[in-house]
Amino acid sequence: LRSFLRQDRKEICEILCNGLARQEYRGYDSAGIGIDGDKPGEVVYFKEVGKVAGLRKLIAEAKIDTSKVFTSQVSIAHTRWATHGVPSIQNCHPIRSDPNSDFLLVHNGIVTNAAELRLVLQKRGYKFESETDTEAVAILIKYVYDSQPDKRVTFTELVKTVLKELEGSFAFVFKSKHYPNEIVTARRGSPLLIGVKTEKKLKVDFVDVEFAGQEAESKTIDPLSPSSPGGLLVPPSGPKIMRTQSRAFMSDDGLPQPIEFFIASDAAAIIEHTKRVLYLEDDDIAHISAGELHIHRLRRNEDGAQTPSTRSIETLEIELAEIMKGKFDHFMQKEIYEQPESVVNTMRGRVNFDTNKITLGGLRAYLPIMRRCRRIVFNACGTSYHSCLATRAIFEELTEIPVSVELASDFLDRKTPIFRDDVCVFVSQSGETADTILALRYCLERGALCVGVVNTVGSTISRETHCGIHINAGPEVGVASTKAYTSQYIALLMMALQLSEDRISLTERRNQIIHGLHELPSQIKTILAADRSLQILADGVLATSKSLLLMGRGYQHATCLEGALKIKEISYMHSEGILAGELKHGPLALIDENMPVIIIMTRDSLYPKVQSAFAQITARKADPIVVCNEGDDGIPNNVKTIRVPQTVDCLQGLLNVVPLQLLSYHLAVKKGFDVDFPRNLAKSVTTE
Ligand code: G6P
Repeated sequence: LRSFLRQDRKEICEILCNGLARQEYRGYDSAGIGIDGDKPGEVVYFKEVGKVAGLRKLIAEAKIDTSKVFTSQVSIAHTRWATHGVPSIQNCHPIRSDPNSDFLLVHNGIVTNAAELRLVLQKRGYKFESETDTEAVAILIKYVYDSQPDKRVTFTELVKTVLKELEGSFAFVFKSKHYPNEIVTARRGSPLLIGVKTEKKLKVDFVDVEFAGQEAESKTIDPLSPSSPGGLLVPPSGPKIMRTQSRAFMSDDGLPQPIEFFIASDAAAIIEHTKRVLYLEDDDIAHISAGELHIHRLRRNEDGAQTPSTRSIETLEIELAEIMKGKFDHFMQKEIYEQPESVVNTMRGRVNFDTNKITLGGLRAYLPIMRRCRRIVFNACGTSYHSCLATRAIFEELTEIPVSVELASDFLDRKTPIFRDDVCVFVSQSGETADTILALRYCLERGALCVGVVNTVGSTISRETHCGIHINAGPEVGVASTKAYTSQYIALLMMALQLSEDRISLTERRNQIIHGLHELPSQIKTILAADRSLQILADGVLATSKSLLLMGRGYQHATCLEGALKIKEISYMHSEGILAGELKHGPLALIDENMPVIIIMTRDSLYPKVQSAFAQITARKADPIVVCNEGDDGIPNNVKTIRVPQTVDCLQGLLNVVPLQLLSYHLAVKKGFDVDFPRNLAKSVTTE
């Protein structure tokens, strides 16, 4: 939203499309914008199925009239990852309440009671034009507005009333022809932030924004009769409108001045405009109009302690350059190549290679509780889950605390017992994965100590956990996670090292691992230098294969699962990670001369056992590619190998995964697939 600033429509579209393009990794099956038209209250939409590039083309071809210059305007935009309704123009956001666009909104998340709301609204004569859950919200707000006899209700009050009827998770931005130059945005469960850009100093500048917390007035605004059909919208007494607000921003001299507000799910979308952001909390409702921002709460804080009554404006330290592709063809490729630096960034200031000491500032106060706990429960999804599996053995070895590793969705499905003396660790690149967040809240409710291992600063998981570690891998854009995996792995390993620092008997083992960590960056560089040979491998027989099995055991089981995930995610090839110890219990039946296999045979205590798995598959005519250590002469000469430097057993997975990342990348490129935006997948899955 921009106020007191002259701007033409073309510029506005440009800003919106740029912001969308940077958030595309969150979803990209359709993209749309809604901007002010020529006449008051008119909205011009541009919507296109597919990626933002298509939307840009549509706008360019539409030959927008740029003569109209706005001094204040509100525009909204969205890139979608379908949950309700197929990707189509009709289901593309912004979603409007009616053909006149009385209200329109964009939505991230899922409204789980949308079907009931839809029924009730349809019974009252409202027509739906999309299959989205979002449309129920658009029409509900119109319905509440239409029901007001005097129409003096404020935009915020309307949104508040609507939010009280909603179940599920959401981040919304609302626009309305009844409230020109105003915008209301709110969140529950989905991330949302507001960037502020102004030339002049703000009156409230880098100071916490106070909430007045006063209930100024209450009145009934919904005339729904309790006996009317449906009747689920409001309690018989009608909703109470609570007014709690505070003035957050005003110019230092009180005079109008150019000010722009950018509302987004992610800082990447707005960083080119401003680095000053305010993260909204669940149930915050922000209203912006005439250069001022007011924050309201949906309900009064009953829990006082749980929801802070202040919001700070933070200055982000990430640079836009960090989220650009640089010299690489794809973000995934860039991120694989960043690993020699990203692993250093994870360890920076935390591992002292002179004294062999680990210092994780974010855990300091909680270490005694962690050391005394009954068990440690890792909770994560996707690649983050694999980083937990990869470090579980060393965690148990160093801490002697039993560790269980949970897929967040299954953990919740099972209603797993959790107790006050458990330590629950939530690992997430984005910090916004819905399943992981729900698992976190489940554990918080049960009184466990909750620890986050997160890449995105300011994300929900980093804010809601008691303590934690930021992995500091830098922004990861490619949907297939790569550098976050290696950094999560190291962060978990550092946690285990820190927890076991007082165990004298382990000194030698710990020192050996810390020394191994020191060597890692140069060893990763060695692997990256052999990239061409992996490309040749991918371009060969693998490119035409239908399936690929990856097998290994011990520490390398997680590497196999992660390698297989990378391959299926971006090259759409069936790929399975197999525990070599389980081979004879089933997977061996798949083996013949036509089944491509990669077997991980780097040197550790399980080497002889993996050798016997190798013998079992070659006896069945498999022609495996072997991932092994440089200089290992135990591998027959006629076998194709991927050679990697040797390191400590518990770190070897960090190296072994890199050629698998590269292999999956080259396979996808060879097949002509969109590496950074694989079909049907999203970088951050903010829905259950
Ligand atoms: C999605 C992404 C994966 C990621 C997983 C967990 O499935 O496509 O790359 O590993 O979510 O995400 P998180 O942000 O919690 O690590």
